[in-house]
Amino acid sequence: MNVSVIGCGYVGLVAAVCLAKLGHRITLVDVDEQKIEMLNNCQAPIHEPDVEEALSQSDLEVTSDYDCISNSDLILLCVSTPTTDDGFISLEYITQASEQLAQVLKKKLDYCVVVVKSTVVPGTTTDVVIPILEKSGKKAGIDFGVCMVPEFLAEGKAIYDFMNPMRIVIGEYDTRSGDMASQLYQSLGAPILRTNPITAEMIKYASNTFLATKISFINEIGNICKLLGIDTYEVARGMGADDRIGSKFLNAGLGFGGSCLPKDIKALISRVKQMGYEPRILEEVWNLNEHQGANLVALLKKHILLKGSTVGLLGLAFKPETDDIRESRAIRLVKVLLKEGATIRAYDPAAVENFKCLFPQIEYVSSQKVLASDAIIIVTEWEEFSHLDYRGKIVIDGRRVPKAMEAKVYEGLCW
Ligand code: UDX
Ligand code: UDX
Repeated sequence: MNVSVIGCGYVGLVAAVCLAKLGHRITLVDVDEQKIEMLNNCQAPIHEPDVEEALSQSDLEVTSDYDCISNSDLILLCVSTPTTDDGFISLEYITQASEQLAQVLKKKLDYCVVVVKSTVVPGTTTDVVIPILEKSGKKAGIDFGVCMVPEFLAEGKAIYDFMNPMRIVIGEYDTRSGDMASQLYQSLGAPILRTNPITAEMIKYASNTFLATKISFINEIGNICKLLGIDTYEVARGMGADDRIGSKFLNAGLGFGGSCLPKDIKALISRVKQMGYEPRILEEVWNLNEHQGANLVALLKKHILLKGSTVGLLGLAFKPETDDIRESRAIRLVKVLLKEGATIRAYDPAAVENFKCLFPQIEYVSSQKVLASDAIIIVTEWEEFSHLDYRGKIVIDGRRVPKAMEAKVYEGLCW
């Protein structure tokens, strides 16, 4: 099929290279000329395993010109949906891209399906996207189709997740739209759940907020275990062996960051509060996550006086295998440590350049030099941190790196 992808961020780019692998002809559209140039030179604008290799093997058309997508059978909307300062979802990019698509639909003679893949609060596809697309004079469900197909890929293993989905959720405006969107995914062999757009939108929010809840839950258990002198990771092993609970997402520590879990929980909380509902669990999941950094700083203060000390950070990315620092727990930590008068040295295998844009004033050094600080905090569990020599050091571990337990002073955040 001829497939167009609007927005070449994590979701769009990964979808584009994977659908090319599956044999579809792909046109990738973005407003960012610098990204387009990089992609045309087979360079990935994001740090994501195997994307560059996949780019060099696929024959993508990359452009800023919406006219190039006029022969598409399917158009995937993958622009970002950030959070506004007051916690609401921003639909600015979704609106802009839909306006552009309406212009395409106006001139298009044959049928195509617009697939919303960006995470949008329940109701957005039918209440916002479709009315804009219909400004083309064409009618949804007749002249063009619409589906909402949420994306569940995790950064760092995005290509694997796309090619090996646990399920595909298709929120279809009508059966014809759903049939066509299903064809895209059929060869992946995953169960396909067909539903309506608003339910598909909610499935994405419910999934991400559940994962966030699982993390905050184990962090709460972890905080209690720390008080009682119990190893939370052993507790989690015992719990996870029950397949009603499951062993994943029970790693206690500094909590969740990234571009999705924090954004989605905030957006859902804001949306339902606007409707007069008090989402008690979600609020506490958020509060607990915000507090884990303060718990870690309290542990650090047991061992050093922050004012005048040098604190070394191992890891800045929101999780290993990515250069993404969006909502990274390192950001809050650095703010607090600077405010308390500490000097900071930091190392990350991939995220230093991104972090420098936020904090040009801290020192970026090798992992060896971080180890020479007065105390060391492990913020992200990059694999290479399991091979450092921590002997003689003071280490506060926010992510459970067992090798660090050889330190002179070792404190696990939740264990
Ligand atoms: C995605 C989803 O879209 C978001 O809803 C989900 O919750 C997380 O994943 P992501 O791919 O991470 O977002 O976004 P980002 O990396 O910011 O990329 C979005 C791309 O869209 C950028 O390349 C940007 O230049 C492009 N864009 C943005 C457009 O092409 N048009 C616009 O109007 C706005
Ligand atoms: C997440 C979802 O997993 C994915 O399905 C969705 O489409 C996008 O959001 P991602 O943000 O890439 O993916 O990362 P994920 O692996 O889920 O980790 C999110 C955060 O939770 C990270 O900061 C990670 O360190 C933290 N985490 C994860 C924990 O603190 N403990 C855990 O047990 C698991």
